Amino acid sequence: MGIVIQVVIPLALKQKIYAKEIKMEISYIRNLAGRLLSFDKFKHVIGVEALVRDVAPLYGISVEAACLAAVAHDLAKDLPIEEQKAEAQARKLIEYPEDLLVPQVLHGRLAALKLQEYLGAVDQDILNAIAYHTTGRPGMSPLEMLIYTADCAEPERSYPGVDKLREKLYHDLVEATLAGMEMSIANLQRLGKAIHPLTRCARDFILEAKNKEA
Ligand SMILES: [Fe+2]
Ligand SMILES: [Fe+2]
Repeated sequence: MGIVIQVVIPLALKQKIYAKEIKMEISYIRNLAGRLLSFDKFKHVIGVEALVRDVAPLYGISVEAACLAAVAHDLAKDLPIEEQKAEAQARKLIEYPEDLLVPQVLHGRLAALKLQEYLGAVDQDILNAIAYHTTGRPGMSPLEMLIYTADCAEPERSYPGVDKLREKLYHDLVEATLAGMEMSIANLQRLGKAIHPLTRCARDFILEAKNKEA
């Protein structure tokens, strides 16, 4: 029997290797988004990435994880909606009747799936942040809240109240997420569109947590 030599890699070196790997992944997925998306949607993705890069350290969120989620979050957005519905059904991603009533929410879950296919193993928090950026969900992690809100507030967005929302994101992640959800619900109500139950539950979850704190 031969001698087994065990090489112990120091933690600092492991972290360095991981940071280098994830930076390469961000660059690869950013390029992919550039190829898959229209120019305007790609500009939006770059806007989300810039905003999360700035804000993530304020809340102790990994900048690399936030940037990877940002560059990947809309990977499936330019697929025709009927294709999105068909793929979501084939991949068993439909969980609520509203997923098909408001199929615009599906591209989050499809993008998470695509990222996993492109990169192999991906941190579950990153996948959740991508999957739920269209609806939110109860009990969101800080990374999920950051991606959800940065998606609404990135510098390319232009609608009444967006500057205030962006400013809020720099001061209170939970308040900003709640404000983003309230704005999204109000907008859907104004347009007479269905509100996804996950968005209602996500909003109520934050409100209940706030009331318990008060
Ligand atoms: Fe999106
Ligand atoms: Fe987006």
